[in-house]
Amino acid sequence: MTETSWKDDKEYVALVADLLEKPEVKQLGNYVQHHHSTRLDHSISVSYQSYKIAKRHHLDVRATARAGLLHDLFYYDWRNTKFDLGSHAFIHPRVALRNAEKLTALSPKEKDIILKHMWGATAAFPKYRESYIVSLVDDYEAIHEFMGPFRGRIQQWMEKITPNA
Ligand SMILES: [Fe+2]
Ligand SMILES: [Fe+2]
Repeated sequence: MTETSWKDDKEYVALVADLLEKPEVKQLGNYVQHHHSTRLDHSISVSYQSYKIAKRHHLDVRATARAGLLHDLFYYDWRNTKFDLGSHAFIHPRVALRNAEKLTALSPKEKDIILKHMWGATAAFPKYRESYIVSLVDDYEAIHEFMGPFRGRIQQWMEKITPNA
């Protein structure tokens, strides 16, 4: 993912600028997330796409942008790391939340967004619409980054199922 249009969106950048400055966030650039992107590219992309949807629906843009950016704040390669306590899908949102809490104060909504972004795999339902947005965009971005050349078609499909987004 090499999209950089978010850089020109001053309103968005103002919401996350302090986080993007942090070495703990920059470090995500060292990890491959999906075939075509780093974890930092993925996190910014999920954050920005979610932010745009939240804005159109007059939801909490700040919580969406910030928690979207921090939703995958973990530092291991998920493709070759095994856990005793549960699957990566279960563990990594909890690790990300713990890491995010060390970087910035988090509202209950921001915590919910980070913790529940894998809710389909973890059985705990999100409390907020913003949490569902980040979770859906995360799934979409994963496919998008994996598929690369097919993204145009996926985009058309997304626009069909979310006509107001
Ligand atoms: Fe994740
Ligand atoms: Fe993610």
